Amino acid sequence: MIFPEDFVWGAATASYQIEGAVKEDGRGQSIWDTFSHTPGKVVDGDTGDVACDHYHRYKDDIGLMRELRLGAYRFSIAWPRVQPDGAGPVNPRGLAFYDKLVDELLAAQISPYVTLYHWDLPQALEDRGGWTNRDTAYRFADYAAAVHDRLGDRVRNWATLNEPWVAAYLGYGNGVHAPGRRDPADALRAAHHLLLGHGLAARRLRPGSVMLVVNSAPVLTPAQVNDPSAVPSEADAAAVHRIHALLTRQFLDPAVHGTYPPEVLEAAARNGGTGHIQDGDLVLINAPIDLIGVNYYNPCVVESGPGLPADAAWPGSEDVRFAAADAPTTAMGWPIVPDGLSRLLVRLSRDYPQVGLMVTENGAAFDDVVENGRVHDADRLAYLDGHLREVWRAAQAGADLRGYLVWSLLDNFEWAEGYRRRFGIVHVDYATQTRVLKDSALWYRDVIARNGL
Ligand code: FCB
Repeated sequence: MIFPEDFVWGAATASYQIEGAVKEDGRGQSIWDTFSHTPGKVVDGDTGDVACDHYHRYKDDIGLMRELRLGAYRFSIAWPRVQPDGAGPVNPRGLAFYDKLVDELLAAQISPYVTLYHWDLPQALEDRGGWTNRDTAYRFADYAAAVHDRLGDRVRNWATLNEPWVAAYLGYGNGVHAPGRRDPADALRAAHHLLLGHGLAARRLRPGSVMLVVNSAPVLTPAQVNDPSAVPSEADAAAVHRIHALLTRQFLDPAVHGTYPPEVLEAAARNGGTGHIQDGDLVLINAPIDLIGVNYYNPCVVESGPGLPADAAWPGSEDVRFAAADAPTTAMGWPIVPDGLSRLLVRLSRDYPQVGLMVTENGAAFDDVVENGRVHDADRLAYLDGHLREVWRAAQAGADLRGYLVWSLLDNFEWAEGYRRRFGIVHVDYATQTRVLKDSALWYRDVIARNGL
């Protein structure tokens, strides 16, 4: 299974999950600082205060990337380092860090893929309503332009948002993520303003290649998990259709086609109304983009559930049951369904043929153990191998696939799960900050060298 010659191989991380140094060089507070320091929000009270200390160890970490022969590294920029209060003049010391990071990557012949928003909103903006406030979209575009001004001479690949569904619905819907608000109307407003921010920012990232990164998944009935040809009942098919609209089409239809699926407008109408969607917004959101970034971990499994109320993370999901998959799971409890990835990629390439696709996150948490300086993470290796085969299959089936990035380079702060969930291909001992390449990293190095499996 050999991939196209220009296929991009890499790994991904995010600022709050790895950097630490939360008070250094004028960085302002983010919603994740506030949230993680609020008792009861994160497992074991973990915070990103130190994380992988990447802020001080970035050179060594790039050394590891070089050892693995990564062609690309996707990282995110902490908005509160650049604009401590989310608006106004940039903080030169904050931008200087990313400037050095980019130079070091380029010197190692690794292409930087910059994500502008991976969830660490400046707390000052949250204090003014966060993503439920329309103004935040305009602040985001200004911030994106400031970063592009500084790095655009060397960075070609830009992502506006990471997983707006998660930012909106876990942040403002069920409150499992920062800022921890729980209101379906707020979540729907936040989703729209995130999209608006995406569209406004996308226009200001030229020259460059622009992508929107979504957490997408094939939505399947329990029977379809192991039998793609299973034919669902009419009621189950309707549940699948609606959840697909809420998860994926809510973001990609406006961004790529300039339209909202009716299911999203209906959910808004029942939860606070559609008044926040102003005339002309869809034109702004529908800015040209080059790529869709796909973060895939597991399928979304649903069936009809007459009478059930909407799940807090899913306004509009009345009468739907979120079901378990008949599949082995990772340490997160997420079902392992590799061919869900090819099913998803083929579908996205059919629904959004005018844009290319890149797998911007894929990976798994397992309970790793270090033995004599090695980590034999056979389960992660098998997960990655299985999913890469499906990327190859999707490409064979005609999907316009440009690359694959493992989540994650390093074990890191896994949001509400803290440090107990390890997704890295590189093990991090948080007490000593020692890095150890897991077996999966050594395997990935060989995959990259071979450009295939
Ligand atoms: C994704 C996030 C990423 C990481 C993985 C496991 O939703 O984008 O930061 O936490 O899940």
